[in-house]
Amino acid sequence: MLNLGVLASGRGSNFQSIIDETEAKRLNAGIVLLITDNPSAYAIERAKKHNIEYLVMAPNEFASRDDFYRKIAEEMKKRNVGLVVLAGFMRIVGKPLIDAFPNRIMNIHPALLPSFPGLHGQRQAIEYGAKISGCTVHFVDEGMDTGPIIIQAAVPVLQDDTEETLSERILIFEHKIYPEAIRLFSEGKIKVEGRKVTIQGYTPFNTHLVNPAIRE
Ligand code: GAR
Repeated sequence: MLNLGVLASGRGSNFQSIIDETEAKRLNAGIVLLITDNPSAYAIERAKKHNIEYLVMAPNEFASRDDFYRKIAEEMKKRNVGLVVLAGFMRIVGKPLIDAFPNRIMNIHPALLPSFPGLHGQRQAIEYGAKISGCTVHFVDEGMDTGPIIIQAAVPVLQDDTEETLSERILIFEHKIYPEAIRLFSEGKIKVEGRKVTIQGYTPFNTHLVNPAIRE
C-alpha cells in the first residue's frame, strides 16, 4: 500500500476527497500524515475526524526556508511516505523536499496550466476572458506550477461566472482528477520522461463538450 503525506494550508476539500477514496478502498493508499503551515486550517479538523496524524509547522519557526522543507522531508521519510500530495498548499515547494521526493510530489491547480499559474487561477481566467478553464494535476518542481502535467479536466467559463461560481464548478473536477492521478500513481501506471507524462490505460476527461454543472 502507498503511504501518502499531505500538505495543506486551508479548507482541505481536496484532502477530504482523498480521505473519502482511501476509506472507501477505491485507492490502494493510506494517508499517514498531514502537515499544515496554518494553525487555523480547516484541514486539521478533517485530520482529527479521520484519525490522521497531523503537524503544524510554520516556516517562520525555522532558521531558513530550506530548513523548513528539510524538516517536512524528514517527517515524511520517517513515515515511509511514497507520494507527497499538495492539497491547497499555498507555497512554492523548496529544493530539499523536491530532491527528497523526485517526481513523487503532486499538486492540483485550478486552471489549465501553463495558463494562469499562481494564486487565484480561476479569477485570472475570468479576467483574461478565457472561454475554457479547468484544473491540472502535475508533478511539482522548483517553479510555480511548472512541473510535468499528469491529468487535466476542462471546464467552460460562463459569461456570468464570478470567481466563486467558476471555482465551485472547477472544484467538482478537482475532486475527480486528483484521486484518479493518485490511483494511477499507486498502480505504477505513470511514466515521466522530461516534461512528458505517459499513463497506461488513461482515458482523458472530455469535458469540453458539456457543461459540468448540468452534468452533475
Ligand atoms: C483548490 O481549488 C486548489 O486547486 C487551489 O486551492 C484550492 C484549495 O481548496 N490550489 C492552488 O491554487 C494552488 N496554486 P481545498 O483546500 O478545499 O482543497
